[in-house]
Amino acid sequence: MNRKPHVAVVGATGAVGLEMIQTLEKRRFPVGQLTLLASARSAGKKLSFADSPVPVQELTRESFTGIDIALFSAGGSISKEFAPLAARAGCVVIDNSSAFRMDPAVPLVIPEINGADAKQHRGIIANPNCTTAVTLMALYPLHQAFQVRRIFASSYQAVSGTGAKAIEELQRQVGEIVAGKPATLDVYPHQIAFNVLPQVDSFLPTGYTKEEMKMENEGRKIMHHPTFRASVTCVRVPVYRAHSVAVSAEFERPVTVEAARAVLAKAPGLDVVDNPEAREYPLPLHVAGKDNCQVGRLRQDCALENGLCFWVVGDQLLKGAALNAVQIAELLLP
Ligand SMILES: NC(=O)c1ccc[n+]([C@@H]2O[C@H](COP(=O)([O-])OP(=O)(O)OC[C@H]3O[C@@H](n4cnc5c(N)ncnc54)[C@H](OP(=O)(O)O)[C@@H]3O)[C@@H](O)[C@H]2O)c1
Repeated sequence: MNRKPHVAVVGATGAVGLEMIQTLEKRRFPVGQLTLLASARSAGKKLSFADSPVPVQELTRESFTGIDIALFSAGGSISKEFAPLAARAGCVVIDNSSAFRMDPAVPLVIPEINGADAKQHRGIIANPNCTTAVTLMALYPLHQAFQVRRIFASSYQAVSGTGAKAIEELQRQVGEIVAGKPATLDVYPHQIAFNVLPQVDSFLPTGYTKEEMKMENEGRKIMHHPTFRASVTCVRVPVYRAHSVAVSAEFERPVTVEAARAVLAKAPGLDVVDNPEAREYPLPLHVAGKDNCQVGRLRQDCALENGLCFWVVGDQLLKGAALNAVQIAELLLP
């Protein structure tokens, strides 16, 4: 790998793509050259990187010549079509979509957990699902200490997880409702303003959604824990940014709140915010824009043996997407 790689961002104009550009800048990633790619709709538009305007180009099959690292966030179908092509052109793809996450030949990486897996790549490395990434930032250190058996969890997922159009939808609906007009629908099947939707992604024959099963499937792969079980209900909430997850975890070994707190206090990329007496606990409003995830509401689970409840919040555009992708890119540097 070049010391100053030529980096491409695919989906540069999207909610994740814009964060990727900012994250490269903020972390002083040694970008030799930056190529921004999106659909024909955005060609010619200029985005700012390191105080200079960079024109957006249309993504084509020829886009990857000379690129060292391509950060993909333009949806699964674009990844399926263009990521193998980019890898064949000699570039390492870090893919944010779900297209390759469960492919046994593709490492699925959270650098704080299984960074070493990135070295096994054959041209494509997958970035995990955002809700899974946020949850594992707290669950994995607990697993190392107490050996997790299974979790029950509910997520409270921000609209920016659906992309730029969903942020506009929440803004528009709030305006419509406050003005006494009916809410117009575009992105979600129901009104999201002043409501919560117990559906994220499409339903499987089991009744779970695809999003809900990512926790178990991706969790097993990332934690190298093939018997990990997760029963999850994913819920979309009218929050702009940062996902929250309420988790009840059952462990093989006895766990106390004090021992769990000591483990979490040392975990990388995680802050413990847990002072209920002072009404201090993680809030999506406080976590939005922050690199670290936050965990709080620690308590012994009253319904499980060796059980612990916690509430973990993370900016899904950062740890669930752009930050994690740039951290993976950092692992590739010489
Ligand atoms: N949002 C999150 O929190 C999050 C977290 C983890 C993973 N992801 C994944 O990241 C991906 C992008 O999500 P997002 O939220 O950033 O979506 P988004 O805001 O809707 O952005 C989509 C991006 O893809 C580009 N695009 C669409 N069609 C294209 C085409 N035919 N050719 C080239 N570029 C095309 C768009 O370009 P134009 O502007 O030109 O249309 C835009 O840059 C998805 O796979 C998503 O599952 C998202």
